[in-house]
Amino acid sequence: MKKIGILGSGIVGQTLANGFIKHGYKVMIGTGNPEKLAEWKATAGDHAMIGSFSDAAAYGEIVVLAVKGNVAAEAIRKAGAFNLSGKTVIDATNPIADLAPENGVLRFFTDLNESLMEKLQKEFPEAHFVKAFNCVGNAFMVNPQFPGGKPTMFIAGNNDNAKSEVTEILTLFGWETEDMGKAEAARAIEPLCMLWCIPGLTSNQWTHAFKLLKL
Ligand SMILES: NC(=O)c1ccc[n+]([C@@H]2O[C@H](COP(=O)([O-])OP(=O)(O)OC[C@H]3O[C@@H](n4cnc5c(N)ncnc54)[C@H](OP(=O)(O)O)[C@@H]3O)[C@@H](O)[C@H]2O)c1
Repeated sequence: MKKIGILGSGIVGQTLANGFIKHGYKVMIGTGNPEKLAEWKATAGDHAMIGSFSDAAAYGEIVVLAVKGNVAAEAIRKAGAFNLSGKTVIDATNPIADLAPENGVLRFFTDLNESLMEKLQKEFPEAHFVKAFNCVGNAFMVNPQFPGGKPTMFIAGNNDNAKSEVTEILTLFGWETEDMGKAEAARAIEPLCMLWCIPGLTSNQWTHAFKLLKL
């Protein structure tokens, strides 16, 4: 049974934790505020654990990064970069700035020539980051059901083995996976979050996901 460490106690951390438990994994969520997870722990069962950021990073054979984008590096420092060395890190974060959206378009603190994941990969070179889960709302992260069939999750990262591990997880979680290449491709994948949110922020329409159609 694979062990997953999740850095992040918010809705994404909890949703992915529940997905992993549903699919037979053991999970530890890392947080600085364990009291936030009391309700989750009470319902998530025996395979659900709570620890500090460093406990969760050390515990996970695979680690999920699901904290606010502007504190992602800080959270990894708290987790201890050495605890991520050689591990697959599923990066679900988005670089959303603390500024109001403009006509429904979120504002980022990154630009199109350097994504948040590239910054993290540079600062923590021993971790194998794979961008995933960032371009869909949490309600659809685990086994989403759409009349149009399986949606597509776009992933990117420098380590092929890490991307294989993430693809395996995405298949279990009911997704088609499109590998867009190395870390630089996160420059294109992170802004999909902006696109995904526009119908929500302008028309309160949040029930969609992307699918890549091919011949
Ligand atoms: N919400 C969605 O549907 C959705 C969908 C796709 C991607 N995302 C992305 O997923 C990430 C998580 O989103 P979310 O909505 O679940 O939660 P969030 O509110 O963006 O983040 C909550 C987490 O951030 C941590 N945090 C805040 N300040 C911190 C600091 N100074 N140092 C370390 N950690 C800190 C919190 O730590 P504590 O546990 O200690 O409180 C908590 O674990 C974000 O990057 C978001 O853009 C969200």
